Amino acid sequence: MWKPPERIKFEPNPGRWPTAEEAARSRWFSPVKIGPLAIEQRTWVPAMVPWRSNDEGFVTDDVLDWYARFAEGRPGGLVIEATGIRDVPSGPLLRIGHDRFVPGLKKLAETVKRASGGHTKLFIQCIDFLAIRRRPEPDKYFQRFLRITDAHRKALGAETWPEAKIREHLAAMPDKELDAVLDARELEGLRMGYRERVTDLHLPHVRDLPKVMPDLFAAAARRAREAGIDGVELHYAHAYTMASFLSRTNDRADGYGGSKEARVRLPLEVFRRVREAVGPDYAVGCRFLAEDCIEGGSTVEDSAYYAVEFARAGMDFLSLSRGGRFEDAKQPGVGEAAYPYTGRSGYECMPAALSDKFGPFGRNVKPGAAIKKAVNAAGFATPVIVTGGIHGFRQAEEILERGDADLIGSARQALADPDWFLKVRLGRGAEVRACEFTNYCEGLDQKHKQVTCKLWDRVDLDEPGVKRTDDGKRRKTPPKWKGAPAA
Ligand SMILES: Cc1cc2nc3c(=O)[nH]c(=O)nc-3n(C[C@H](O)[C@H](O)[C@H](O)COP(=O)(O)O)c2cc1C
Ligand code: SF4
Repeated sequence: MWKPPERIKFEPNPGRWPTAEEAARSRWFSPVKIGPLAIEQRTWVPAMVPWRSNDEGFVTDDVLDWYARFAEGRPGGLVIEATGIRDVPSGPLLRIGHDRFVPGLKKLAETVKRASGGHTKLFIQCIDFLAIRRRPEPDKYFQRFLRITDAHRKALGAETWPEAKIREHLAAMPDKELDAVLDARELEGLRMGYRERVTDLHLPHVRDLPKVMPDLFAAAARRAREAGIDGVELHYAHAYTMASFLSRTNDRADGYGGSKEARVRLPLEVFRRVREAVGPDYAVGCRFLAEDCIEGGSTVEDSAYYAVEFARAGMDFLSLSRGGRFEDAKQPGVGEAAYPYTGRSGYECMPAALSDKFGPFGRNVKPGAAIKKAVNAAGFATPVIVTGGIHGFRQAEEILERGDADLIGSARQALADPDWFLKVRLGRGAEVRACEFTNYCEGLDQKHKQVTCKLWDRVDLDEPGVKRTDDGKRRKTPPKWKGAPAA
């Protein structure tokens, strides 16, 4: 992952923990409504892909164990990882693109209900994404993938050469010289791996995204409801299809890009179709970016506008993330695919301990506050969830006291210690395992390896019943809280 050049090391800083009485009086542990749902406390575990599904995209026993473990800490809201809405093979990504996925998801909803004693509301994050290929071997790229055009012939002064000779010539050229021959997309295909964009209107399936997205999302949401999941989070964040429509980089000329009004059009059309499918009494919101954090990307002003439009359309919650875009991703190794959390925008999404002077804690709070202010000023009370480096009671409480957000998301802190909400609520914050924000977990995610946390994945490995990751070295779920009160 990219690191800020300052490389200032920040230690975990959760601050003073409250007594049980202070926690009981706190805003963080006070209830809030999300649409029709009564959420018991303003604690929220945002989506995290743990790579526990299988190649068919089903809910496996590992998926059940994973979410049961989070549910034991009884957060107010728990969001199931990014789940694919299409019925296409997607590797071990959880899927919701067909009715055959409903029974597994139903089991998951029941499991979370049981494990949380009915205290946690469960949401599912629904995602669509475009094709991305691995970075090719240069030889293969020139022999097979590159389409030879007149522009290449002209740049090489090789109008009369046979195609095979041009391919050979290009393959033998020093990398730098290729800049003068290949266009930007061709260079990207060579150096990063081919990646589709929502602006590729020459591709019929990309041109038709406004026709197909609403129904795909709506069918997924209907299945979520049928499975007994409490609500749906439309994934409008990071590097994926819907976020790319919202991004300022979207210059589609078909009425779905260019101005901010046009960029928000498809996300609104998707939401309306989803609402029609699930009805008015079901919680639907979205996750989107407070800022793209890339050159030429969306800013807080854009996002404040989107937030108001989402609220006006009747969304039940707005969950804010930041960054995580492909545009500034690092070059992957040959045979690997680009990963949208390796550049500066990736750092903004999952800020780590080596940071700039602002540090990794709460980088999304200020932009989030501006967005919430805009929503409220427009006359809406839609709850706003802010996430990013929040790992302490005082930190969370101050955000809520200032009115900068309505709920507090903590992803990695919950991964480090899923019991932390319960520990703090019981006045036992001293027992919290504080996240160190070194992003070992994110490194595993990047390699599509089963995600675990370095603070617990080698602990009590020989305990009876401990399930291990495929490499046999790590436990798959955090150890039980030994001092947990009897249920
Ligand atoms: C392993 C891992 C997987 C993630 N998967 C998702 C995901 O599926 N969807 C999503 O919106 N964000 C995902 N995120 C981002 C988190 O939800 C969160 O926004 C980010 O980690 C910053 O919050 P934190 O500082 O509380 O961890 C993931 C983060 C991690 C560490
Ligand atoms: S591995 Fe654990 S401690 Fe490290 S960043 Fe991830 S959750 Fe935090």
